Amino acid sequence: MDITPDTEQTPSTNITPAYYRQVLGKLPTGVVAITGINDDNEKLGLVVGTFQSLSLEPPLVMFCVDKSSSSWPKLRKLQKFTANILADDQIAICRSLSRKGPEKFENLPCTEGPLGTPHLDGATAYIDCLVTAEVVVGDHYMVVGAVSHMTEGNGDALLFRAGKFGQYQPLEIPTEAARSAS
Ligand SMILES: Cc1cc2nc3c(=O)[nH]c(=O)nc-3n(C[C@H](O)[C@H](O)[C@H](O)COP(=O)(O)O)c2cc1C
Repeated sequence: MDITPDTEQTPSTNITPAYYRQVLGKLPTGVVAITGINDDNEKLGLVVGTFQSLSLEPPLVMFCVDKSSSSWPKLRKLQKFTANILADDQIAICRSLSRKGPEKFENLPCTEGPLGTPHLDGATAYIDCLVTAEVVVGDHYMVVGAVSHMTEGNGDALLFRAGKFGQYQPLEIPTEAARSAS
């Protein structure tokens, strides 16, 4: 299915890709490695910032992949994947898996997950999924996964905003009691 709006419905605009990125860059995203392994034992993976929860009952998740991805056509054939929520000490893993080329998984320790897909050691959570839908939207594929297993790991999630990595920092909001005392 292609749900790209046709040109009549798309407003004409002067929004450049650079400005689009600048504005959307205000919103932090998680950093998630989508991983799989094919019959030739080739590990496959790419990093996405577009991973989201989608439905609770049934449990569904989604992410978007650029049409230019060289890994997604191979991952798509498997019809299953693990979403590894990367931890804030896994920037090097993010860099490896967001490169193009076959050496992405060099020196990346993995353990086999319940669907046979690679779980990257040290991730903060693993979400194992079967692909249930994929639609073309603009210059991306929107992929929906039905969650079959979930496992919590350790640490806090790595975040990405405006081209920089970061960590979640809760705000110190004074309680009612502290406010009345001051
Ligand atoms: C923090 C971060 C978030 C990214 N988010 C996405 C995304 O949501 N979708 C996407 O297609 N690529 C995204 N990328 C870029 C892909 O990881 C990269 O283009 C891809 O892995 C290239 O390798 P491939 O051709 O093997 O797929 C992101 C990269 C980084 C570093």
